[in-house]
Amino acid sequence: MDAGDSAEKVFAPNVEVQQSAHVKSLDEYKTLYQKSIDEPVAFWGEILQDFHLEKQPRPNKSLEFNFNCDDGPIGVKWFQGATTNVCYNVLDRIVKEKGKGDKIAFYWEGNDIGDDSKITYSELLVEVCKFANVLKDVGVKRGDRVAIYMPMIIELVVAMLACARIGAIHSIVFGGFSADSLAGRMVDGQCSVVVTADGVYRGSKLLKLKEVVDNAITLADKKGLKVHTVIAVRHLGPGAGQTPEAPAQSAKRPCYDLETTMVEGRDHWWHDKMATASDQCEPEWMDAEDPLFILYTSGSTGTPKGVVHTQIGYMLYTATTFKYSFDFHDDHVYWCTADIGWITGHSYVVYGPMANGATSVLFEGVPTYPDPGRCWQITDKYNVSILYTAPTLIRTLMKFGDEPIKKYSRQSLRVLGTVGEPINPEAWLFYYKSIGDSRCPIVDTFWQTETGGHTITSLPGATPMKPGSATLPFFGIDPVILNDDGKILKGECEGSLAFRRPWPGMMRTVYGDHERFERTYFKTFPGFYRTGDGCRRDKDGYLWVTGRIDDMFNVSGHLLSTAEIESAVVELPEVAEAAAVAYPHKVKGQCCYCFVTLVQGVTYSEEIITKIKQHVRQRIGAHAQPDYLQNSPSLPKTRSGKIMRRVLRKVAQNSRDLGDISTMADPGVVEELFKNRPKIS
Ligand code: WTA
Repeated sequence: MDAGDSAEKVFAPNVEVQQSAHVKSLDEYKTLYQKSIDEPVAFWGEILQDFHLEKQPRPNKSLEFNFNCDDGPIGVKWFQGATTNVCYNVLDRIVKEKGKGDKIAFYWEGNDIGDDSKITYSELLVEVCKFANVLKDVGVKRGDRVAIYMPMIIELVVAMLACARIGAIHSIVFGGFSADSLAGRMVDGQCSVVVTADGVYRGSKLLKLKEVVDNAITLADKKGLKVHTVIAVRHLGPGAGQTPEAPAQSAKRPCYDLETTMVEGRDHWWHDKMATASDQCEPEWMDAEDPLFILYTSGSTGTPKGVVHTQIGYMLYTATTFKYSFDFHDDHVYWCTADIGWITGHSYVVYGPMANGATSVLFEGVPTYPDPGRCWQITDKYNVSILYTAPTLIRTLMKFGDEPIKKYSRQSLRVLGTVGEPINPEAWLFYYKSIGDSRCPIVDTFWQTETGGHTITSLPGATPMKPGSATLPFFGIDPVILNDDGKILKGECEGSLAFRRPWPGMMRTVYGDHERFERTYFKTFPGFYRTGDGCRRDKDGYLWVTGRIDDMFNVSGHLLSTAEIESAVVELPEVAEAAAVAYPHKVKGQCCYCFVTLVQGVTYSEEIITKIKQHVRQRIGAHAQPDYLQNSPSLPKTRSGKIMRRVLRKVAQNSRDLGDISTMADPGVVEELFKNRPKIS
């Protein structure tokens, strides 16, 4: 069977998984789903009873929303009047109410084999309370924003939960972003406190995080933001992990000796501050709709949007999706390979698993270091039962074939998950057969930073799988497929994916710009949340997300906007104009192909190519660097001056199937574009 016909094939859930699953059949799923749609407040309210609320919601105030711009401001409010603390629910509740204090919360696995540690729920609670007091000590109050720029270490979890405990809003920036990107996010959120680490090795690559923070602070200062405190974990510095003051780290760590400059009065070592901090900290009781965190995601205008998630809805939704999508049971060991700096890490490394009292693996390194068997070595070491990863990683591992996989047992694996982009059938089959030994159901989870948690996904014991389809909606999600006029399409169809009702985990606003929230997600199709993705529904009602239909593209599961890259490129004095388009990539799914028009008198050369690539790295981060550049003395434009990207996409792919080009101002440009295509290996 090749990948072509597998796309038509239906894979039944594994019988053993099915027998003990929370949801054992499609019928059971349908009953629960119908209830979640017909009686959302009763459905979620029942689940909420398992959580600690300091104050109960006001009667009749459990759900208020408006999805239609014509009817006033867009808004969603769940469980108004209730107060809670998310940190309390994922720690104190697990320790005190569930009696799981001695359960391992995280197995930490370092970049280097042998460098590891672990922490229980009780121990984590102590660390979080201490760091919450450290934050208070440096002046952080309820509602303040704290920037976090850290590697995948336990202190990152501690820092975010400490924020949640005192009602501060964390704004985590992925450790691969540049100083410019970090500064932009810090300024937007007005974060005057930054938590970081001296550095981290990812594979053999050293990232000096504290140095990036220093540069970001200088840049932010020019935009009027004064950062008064930096707290840095000594992760690679002399003595790191060897002192009792840094207990979360392992005594077996190799000795690193990264020296870090500290600014007197502003910068503090984590272990110094923690040494004197009290381990008692009362949680701050937060209103249901108070912000929990901000996380930036690419926006089609080029400026990232600060997606805001709130307290109860987000907690409830990540907890519930985690339990059902992965069919989590108490004795499972769970491993999500995503970095906490992305939404997948927020929802499914930290909040969702911890709300269920799960034991997780937190991995600092990269999946191919020191060799491509690393994931399976870790899987066997911790007896991982649930693995959640991205198609790009699966495709990376495919290159190495079955050998590094078969060296390890992987018998503990029970459920496999995927997220980030449509998974191609070849990768799906490799995941299913080679990695899961045709034994483990695959849950293909479609969701977004904005949705907080899974919105379309199979359930391991209930949903027959079709490779490449995210299958059916999660509880509370009411998906529709719309045509360009915003009309709902029925039956088998293809169009724009939108949701017509609110679910607890959805974003509430764009930080500081509610109008942008309304415009981006609700303006095009009044009455619907627009995902920005294309989607097909097949004869069985299965949903197949086909990818972005706006000016975004998805590199290794990370969204980038064409405008974001273009505005970085045109900052260079040598560049007059730029147009970025998505180009298919074997491992990353998509990559960036950028057309550039240089200013008169500048010659297109290797030097300028390197300069442009470097500049994008510096402005955004390594993941945004264009893979291909093309010299384009002119770009195809409409008579009104709009760049015709659809033509450029075809040129990039060397396809002459250009469609209608009658609106093009100068059709002569096309030949020149084809002539100038770079050699692509
Ligand atoms: C894409 C990541 C197909 C989609 C959680 C979405 C997917 C964007 C899937 C969000 C999937 C994510 N199948 N496409 N299973 N999962 N996507 O905000 O284009 O980083 O809009 O959130 O990733 O990316 P984000």
